[in-house]
Formats: sequence, C-alpha cells, structure tokens
Amino acid sequence: MKDRIIVALDTDSPDKALSTVAALAGEVGLFKVGMELFPRGGPRLVEKIREAGSRIFLDLKFHDIPNTVAGAVKSAVALGVSFTTVHAAGGKAMLAAAAEAAAGSGTTILAVTVLTSLDDADLSNIGYALRTGDAVTRLASLAVEAGIGGIVCSAKEVATLRARLGGKVTLVTPGVRLPEDSVGDQKRVVTPYDAIRAGADYLVVGRPITKAADPVAAARKFAAEMKRARLNP
Ligand code: C5P
Repeated sequence: MKDRIIVALDTDSPDKALSTVAALAGEVGLFKVGMELFPRGGPRLVEKIREAGSRIFLDLKFHDIPNTVAGAVKSAVALGVSFTTVHAAGGKAMLAAAAEAAAGSGTTILAVTVLTSLDDADLSNIGYALRTGDAVTRLASLAVEAGIGGIVCSAKEVATLRARLGGKVTLVTPGVRLPEDSVGDQKRVVTPYDAIRAGADYLVVGRPITKAADPVAAARKFAAEMKRARLNP
C-alpha cells in the first residue's frame, strides 16, 4: 500500500523538498508539488524527483478557458507527472478539454470540487444555490461525465462519491491522520484505515509524515494501517 501514499511537499524550498524526497523515496509512491513549491523549483525540481524514482502529483488546480487549460495539461503531461488537478467549476467544456489533452498519456487528471475552506454561506456569496455536499456530488459527476479520471475529495465525501461514481474513478483524499497524530489546522480528519475502508485509492499526507520525528517510521505506519484496511474482509 505504500505506493498509495502521496507525500505533500508543502515548502517553498526546493532543497528541503529534495531532502524529504531522498529520505522517503523508497517508502511512498508519490510526492505532491503544489502552488507554493512549483514556482520556486519549476520543471527542474519535478525532473529531480522523478530521477529519485518517484512519481509526481502536480497540484496547480487549473481553472481557465478550455483552450488554455488544455495547453496547461499538455505542459504537465510533458513533465511526466502522474496526476495533475483542475477545478471542476471550470465547466464541462473545460473538463473535456483537459481530459482530451491528457488522453493516452500516463497523466490522470483529478478534479477539485468544492474547496474544504468553503462552507454553505461562502457558496451562497458566490452565487451557488446548492449546499456544499450537493455541490461536491454535482461537480464530481460533471467531471466524470466529461472524461476526468479522478476526484480529490475529503475523507468525509469518499464513501458517497465511491457509491455514486463507481469503482473506476480514482479518489484521492487529504486530511488523514494516525490516531496518535496531532490534527493541526485540519478540521475533519480520518485515519488511514477508515479512508481506505471508505473507498479512497490514494491518501495525501503532509505533516504527519514530513514533520514526524522519524518520517520513515511514520510512512511505514501509514502503509501498515492501509494494508490492514485492505485485508480486513
Ligand atoms: O499536512 P497535511 O497532511 O494536513 O497536508 C495535507 C495536504 O493536502 C496539503 O498539501 C493540503 O494543501 C492538501 N489538501 C487538504 N485539504 C483539501 C485539499 C488539499 O489538506 N481539502
């Protein structure tokens, strides 16, 4: 199950990111490079992580007109990343353009539905009539209809989306903590065991591994808990 762990490189320092990669490359499947790190490290950093033998989740959450997003996705595909993200709220034509741009490549597009920082009042403020749970389901369904291969969703949403979208869609879940971990600023957390039981395919884990006294031991504990969830009938 270690290949199902994505470690979030949440730092502005390419050097720090590369030391985390060096320490954990054999222990986890992927590293997530996002908006803080990519503008500093650029494509060269992505290449270095790949040279260390790891796969990449390039989390830049594209949201623009279809033609521009298709171009952005092609550039991500050219970098050899395994996953990249788009906002489902970009609409069906944008989602379809993103899916088409990645078709036949080794890159799976993941759609982001409603950011977990938004609540019902925030959605109302931007003119959405739906409540957050319904908006998540609707946007996820729209993305899958447009040919998108996966969804980033909170652990709270995994079971509903798995039931709704079926087994083929890749579900990637952040906000995961071992029972003994501190929760930090995450408000809704689940254990790796429960996330896998609910139907998650990949877990995005940041601080519980990167800030652990022994990151390798922490990664192994996550993998063991995920395996226990898989083996349990
Ligand atoms: O350190 P921690 O495990 O909380 O990091 C989780 C990672 O997942 C961070 O990169 C964070 O931006 C990302 N994420 C999240 N919640 C979401 C979407 C993404 O925590 N709803």
